Amino acid sequence: MIRVLGIETSCDETAASVVTLEGDAAPKILSNIVLSQIEEHAAFGGVVPEIAARAHVEALDGIIEAALADSGAKLADIDAIAATAGPGLVGGLIVGLMTAKAIAAAAHKPLLAINHLEGHALTARLTDGLDFPYLLLLVSGGHTQIVAVRGVGDYQRWATTIDDALGEAFDKTAKMLGLPYPGGPNVEKAAATGDATRFAFPRPMKGSAQPDFSFSGLKTAVRQAATAIAPLSDQDVADICASFQAAVADALGDRVSRALSRFRQEFPGKAEPALVVAGGVAANRTIKATLQALCAEAGFQFVAPPLKLCTDNAAMIAWAGIERLRAGIVQENAADFVPRSRW
Ligand code: KG4
Ligand code: ZN
Repeated sequence: MIRVLGIETSCDETAASVVTLEGDAAPKILSNIVLSQIEEHAAFGGVVPEIAARAHVEALDGIIEAALADSGAKLADIDAIAATAGPGLVGGLIVGLMTAKAIAAAAHKPLLAINHLEGHALTARLTDGLDFPYLLLLVSGGHTQIVAVRGVGDYQRWATTIDDALGEAFDKTAKMLGLPYPGGPNVEKAAATGDATRFAFPRPMKGSAQPDFSFSGLKTAVRQAATAIAPLSDQDVADICASFQAAVADALGDRVSRALSRFRQEFPGKAEPALVVAGGVAANRTIKATLQALCAEAGFQFVAPPLKLCTDNAAMIAWAGIERLRAGIVQENAADFVPRSRW
């Protein structure tokens, strides 16, 4: 049996979790505590690094205690401590990694410095027991990537954004239109009563031979449209949101469909290929429906883990630790590991 305590502090969630794996049974999440700082940052319309770091300092000890208590395990029963060591906001990373180092040293447990993106990449194996290789679409406030997940520690990035992350584009659009933070859910809500055909926004990169994403041109187009018809009525806002969302889904679909074809070419022997989505933007129903349709057409399984595990959490970090332990991947001198904000 392997039992790992995970710690996540790379952005604006303070999180701790205990995950266990026993024999051939499915892994179990014994506890999964996530404290969001959304309210602390809402007044500023985005995450403020200084405030985030301070909030992690204040909350983390209690969150770890609660995760242990919830799991029914004592620190002595834990096999290793896994903490996010990057990428992310450096203040938060320092808080989480230093705390993990202290616990590991005091309790004589191994420390695992985990890459946050590896956590997202391996979540579908925790929730759905997926086999390698598979394709991952990560769309969050900080990341927009397509990754071929080939094995533990074996990731190939096929596409990334050349400017804004997709969640960031949602958040900035919301801000321009006077909608509250976080923008994504509010843009989706407004779009529900809007006319998606009123504005012909650009579909950045659509049809491009280059695999990457781009969203800043779309953001500019939204700003120009909003400025041209200001002051905006509620219906104007709804129409802009719906048109924006349609453009995003279309552009994203084009990029993903390209990657599905590439996956077919590179892994011709893979019998049931799968596309996994992760990140907060995966909550968007229009985007989800677009991806689902694409997968059905291309013969891919569409895997969307529960939102609680697709957005930032520590269960995915604990799980990545278990995967690493199980694969026998050991980190030399983890106790000396320095947080890497751009890892
Ligand atoms: O994964 P996540 O919770 O945190 C990180 O960024 O790591 O993602 C948050 C992002 C925000 O930009 C938020 O606006 C976006 O996900 N988001 C959405 C929706 N829900 C959250 N974007 C579009 N539609 C949604 N329903
Ligand atoms: Zn994340």
